[in-house]
Amino acid sequence: MDSLIELKNISASYNGAVVLNNVNFTIREGDFIGVIGPNGGGKTTLLKIILGLVKPVSGDIIFNREKITPKKIGYLPQMAEGDGNFPVSVLDVVLSGLMMLKKDTARMDRNDKEKAEETLKDLGIYHLRNKTLNMLSGGELQRVYLSRALVGSPKLLLLDEPGNFVDTSFEQGFYDKLKELNREMTILMVSHDVGTISAFVKSFACVNRKLHFHDSGRITTGQLKAYDCPIQLIAHGDVPHTVLKNH
Ligand SMILES: Nc1ncnc2c1ncn2[C@@H]1O[C@H](COP(=O)(O)OP(=O)(O)OP(=O)(O)O)[C@@H](O)[C@H]1O
Ligand SMILES: [Mg+2]
Repeated sequence: MDSLIELKNISASYNGAVVLNNVNFTIREGDFIGVIGPNGGGKTTLLKIILGLVKPVSGDIIFNREKITPKKIGYLPQMAEGDGNFPVSVLDVVLSGLMMLKKDTARMDRNDKEKAEETLKDLGIYHLRNKTLNMLSGGELQRVYLSRALVGSPKLLLLDEPGNFVDTSFEQGFYDKLKELNREMTILMVSHDVGTISAFVKSFACVNRKLHFHDSGRITTGQLKAYDCPIQLIAHGDVPHTVLKNH
């Protein structure tokens, strides 16, 4: 697989506290990477570094410009309590995902609106288009944000804990959708649900100040320990239930 983006010796800190320490990581075209690690381990920071929202204190981020530019990254941020608590319409939120791709002066046109509507249809939430965010459930809101991430046809999709608000009835469809999207785009997804995502991710990145790349969709508790990646393994189907204690 060709490299899309390469992180070389990246370190990040907030107010002097080191969060990522000398991270080396290559995102390869077509990969589906599960990003795992304990709370506060630096997963969201890693995504923000890739997006240019957090500046590393040292190291380099190298884009393979033949394959990708920063604008071709779709981003679904980690949701927090109170998100979506304002009366902006679903359609406008999805359209905002196209705004970033435009020149400063350009306005939204008919084409953009059609694109946004297509994306909503594709994710099965077209009927919500005129609702405002504060009227939506957590799962619906999550799908609206996913639409915003997808509307610009990204080459790389960054998802920060998308499963958290997904109820079980929607879960399988959601993951099937991601699998389908992975045929067209590279995906990097933060999740705590290692058992579920191991059914379809192609590799893992364990993030706990350091980053360990694991080039397989299967990972054992022994490997997680070796990577100093203390996470909870949640039981799903026949995946054994194991809880690794924090250390
Ligand atoms: N803007 C910020 N200012 C100061 N400290 C921050 C900031 N953002 C994150 N941190 C701290 O950096 C560390 C890593 O945070 P980050 O959000 O990257 O972790 P995470 O792995 O995504 O955790 P979680 O699983 O809880 O989402 C944490 O200790 C957090 O408190
Ligand atoms: Mg996070």
